[in-house]
Amino acid sequence: MREDIAKVLLSEEQIRRRVAEMGQQISRDYGDKEPILVCILKGAVLFYSDLCRSISIPINMDFMAVSSYGNRTKSSGEVEIRKDLSMPIDGRHVIIVEDIVDSGFTLSYLLRVLSSRGAASVRICTLLDKPERRAPGITIQTDYHGFVIGNEFVVGYGLDYAEKYRNLPYIGVLKPEIYENN
Ligand code: IMP
Ligand code: MG
Repeated sequence: MREDIAKVLLSEEQIRRRVAEMGQQISRDYGDKEPILVCILKGAVLFYSDLCRSISIPINMDFMAVSSYGNRTKSSGEVEIRKDLSMPIDGRHVIIVEDIVDSGFTLSYLLRVLSSRGAASVRICTLLDKPERRAPGITIQTDYHGFVIGNEFVVGYGLDYAEKYRNLPYIGVLKPEIYENN
């Protein structure tokens, strides 16, 4: 897999340190509110498991899957729930845990859906944010974000290209020829 990576953008150590800080921040902000952390499958799964372990207050865990890019590198703007939450969230404090905010379509949809179920609050925690790529008319306030990155397609630490590279322990920029040929 390493030969398909043009450069390492975020090392294991950089990720580890930042995720620990984010966990501490969430612990301070939520205190005894017992938030539900919602992992958006599959991209957020490694971030989620490290983040949850660095949170020192009681939390609940739940999972959602939404349709995304498939094998393409651009979003269609259409979002669909493939797997829904297993518990009601009315009156609860919800934190959506996502791998990356790109166009913003996925998170604006999720915010709308989860807020309409009567959650006491819904906040966003994303590892990566690509603000330059936001679609026209979409504004997303990322309450917690690990790193702001430029307009590059990245893989690793949960992020994929065509379902590959998710198990890389760092985040790297994919060589453009890997996806230009498809
Ligand atoms: P959005 O709806 O355009 O914000 O897209 C969010 C989803 O697109 C993320 O959850 C990722 O699955 C995927 N995505 C966006 N940018 C990248 C990237 O650079 N690498 C891998 N997946 C990405
Ligand atoms: Mg994703």
